[in-house]
Amino acid sequence: MIEKLDMSTPNLIDKNIAQIATIFPQCVTETKDNNGNIKKAIDFDLLKQELSSKIVEGNKERYRLEWPGKKEALIAANNGLNKTLRPKIEDSVNFDNTQNVYIEGDNLDALKLLQENYLNKVKLIYIDPPYNTGKDFVYKDNFTVEKKELLADSGLLDEYENKLLKNQDSNGRYHSDWLSMIYARLKVARNLLKKEGVIYISIDDNEVHNLRKICDEIFGEKNFIRNVIWEKKYSPANDSKVISDTHDHILVYAKNISEWTMKLLPRTEEMNKRYSNPDKDPRGPWKPGGLSAKTYSPKYDYPVVTPSGKTVYPPTGSCWQVSQEKLEILINDNKIYFGKEGDAKPQIKQFLADVQNGVVSKSIWKYDEVGHNQTSRKELTDLFDGEFLFDNPKPTTLIERIFDITTFTKNDIVLDFFSGSGSTAHAVFKYNLKHKLNLHFILIQIPDRVTVNSVAEQKGYKNICEIGKERIRRAGAKILKEHKDKEGIENLDIGFRVFKVDSSNMKDVYYKPDEIRQDNLFEMVSSIKEDRTDLDLLFQVLLDSGIELTLPIKEKQIAGKKVYFVDYNVLAVCFEDNLTEEFVTSLAKSEDLLKVVFRDSSFGSDDSRINVEQIFKQYSPNTQIRVI
Ligand SMILES: C[S@@+](CC[C@H](N)C(=O)[O-])C[C@H]1O[C@@H](n2cnc3c(N)ncnc32)[C@H](O)[C@@H]1O
Repeated sequence: MIEKLDMSTPNLIDKNIAQIATIFPQCVTETKDNNGNIKKAIDFDLLKQELSSKIVEGNKERYRLEWPGKKEALIAANNGLNKTLRPKIEDSVNFDNTQNVYIEGDNLDALKLLQENYLNKVKLIYIDPPYNTGKDFVYKDNFTVEKKELLADSGLLDEYENKLLKNQDSNGRYHSDWLSMIYARLKVARNLLKKEGVIYISIDDNEVHNLRKICDEIFGEKNFIRNVIWEKKYSPANDSKVISDTHDHILVYAKNISEWTMKLLPRTEEMNKRYSNPDKDPRGPWKPGGLSAKTYSPKYDYPVVTPSGKTVYPPTGSCWQVSQEKLEILINDNKIYFGKEGDAKPQIKQFLADVQNGVVSKSIWKYDEVGHNQTSRKELTDLFDGEFLFDNPKPTTLIERIFDITTFTKNDIVLDFFSGSGSTAHAVFKYNLKHKLNLHFILIQIPDRVTVNSVAEQKGYKNICEIGKERIRRAGAKILKEHKDKEGIENLDIGFRVFKVDSSNMKDVYYKPDEIRQDNLFEMVSSIKEDRTDLDLLFQVLLDSGIELTLPIKEKQIAGKKVYFVDYNVLAVCFEDNLTEEFVTSLAKSEDLLKVVFRDSSFGSDDSRINVEQIFKQYSPNTQIRVI
């Protein structure tokens, strides 16, 4: 059993704690007070140990990241939820034909709602969460009613009842809330990744060390791929009192390192320029590479006579990479170069043809290769007629670099659940245009209110989702316009289906998520909220049935009743009242349906319900029948 740290909270004023922190910073930690609030505290066991030369009895040493609230975060990740996704057709683009999804709402809810439909289906996740700089907001998941009221009074709950807290260093919850927030979300998101999937997480120095530990725990240390350094600025802040911060980190983890493969980057003109063919070698252009070895072996330390008759030796303390016999063979094969005059130390010819497949990505991504903060700023302002509506978007070129090293197949899904201004969707459009790939995106963003008196507010945008959706619309339209003559442009999917996380369509008293999947559905009383439309119900059926949200939906009239056919025959749904035997018979005969769903209240009596089953048994025995 894991022992709990006895991190008692002494009745010390913050100043005392701060003083101890100046001598023993490692002894200052975070804990919860009696009211469940997180505050700074002293780890007395550790402090005692610091003041003693003997082992101090106390808690066992262990290697893991702990913080107050971790267990609650785990519970938050695992708890079911009584919510649904409601389509917003008016906000969508090409609702009927697009394969892209944009979800408005808290990403923990949204990720949970996607658990069945997108389980093991996402190829790549890119996220750029709040960095916990002390100026950004962090979302708390477990709010009691009293706390909610408190927050509403303080103006910290927005129209969506979002629970946003400015996570300042001074309030003592500098790390813990952020850790709980990200921990729960990563845990749920991991389930959506394919076995060959990968996640890229942008972060800066504030939390990179903690995030790495959390990811080690969630994804497994062996699945760590790299901590990529992105040079986000092209010049230092010259007024900085410390080393100027000019880079971000991007942590990369595979779902399963043995299943993940990396794509090589295409060779650049610059790289190819280094190859030439001065001796007209029929094997094509080459460049000379060193032949001295890294480790010394006396056997490989021998003199070589150059074509001009000069005797040369390996560099002092080193030897050649190959034996004398092997060098002979290479010389006879015209693979050794002795310099222009034929009197230099031997070098080996490296042929362009051998490296044509591409180059392995480096772990440092420079601003002149993948863009910097100003690149993305310009990208966004260009789309919005010179107005800057969103702080710190990421350059699409940075996200495209991530795509460049991903071995995508057609129709792969890219997920971004901190999507902000929608840069990931824009990058997907650009990438699909360039590579004819047909990647699809799922973006999630909380409808965070825009800052009061900001340009965004003056331009009429109420929340970040409004900016994000408009950015995607504009980016798509711009690409279509600029490439209208490109072959196949009509196939570029620049649409997206918008959904909003909302309370369940079912009245609370009747609905529990698990119940809906049981076979006793016919016994359920009709319990649908009055304000919900057919489409709301249809998408809840898709969610509950584990069917993807972007499948084509066709509306047809069958015996005078409206029926939605999802993906031709995967699902047929009818929510109309007074369904007749004639209707049910026509439907049962219409297609080879896998599943049909009706509203419980559509049948007048138990008798007609039994008829439905019998009719289907007769005409389409393999169809599964459900009611809501
Ligand atoms: C750093 S920004 C991402 C910027 C984005 N990469 C871009 O290029 O525009 C982080 C975003 O995550 C959003 N966010 C924070 N917590 C969230 C949550 N719980 N659910 C959904 N979105 C959240 C914030 O509103 C913010 O827009």
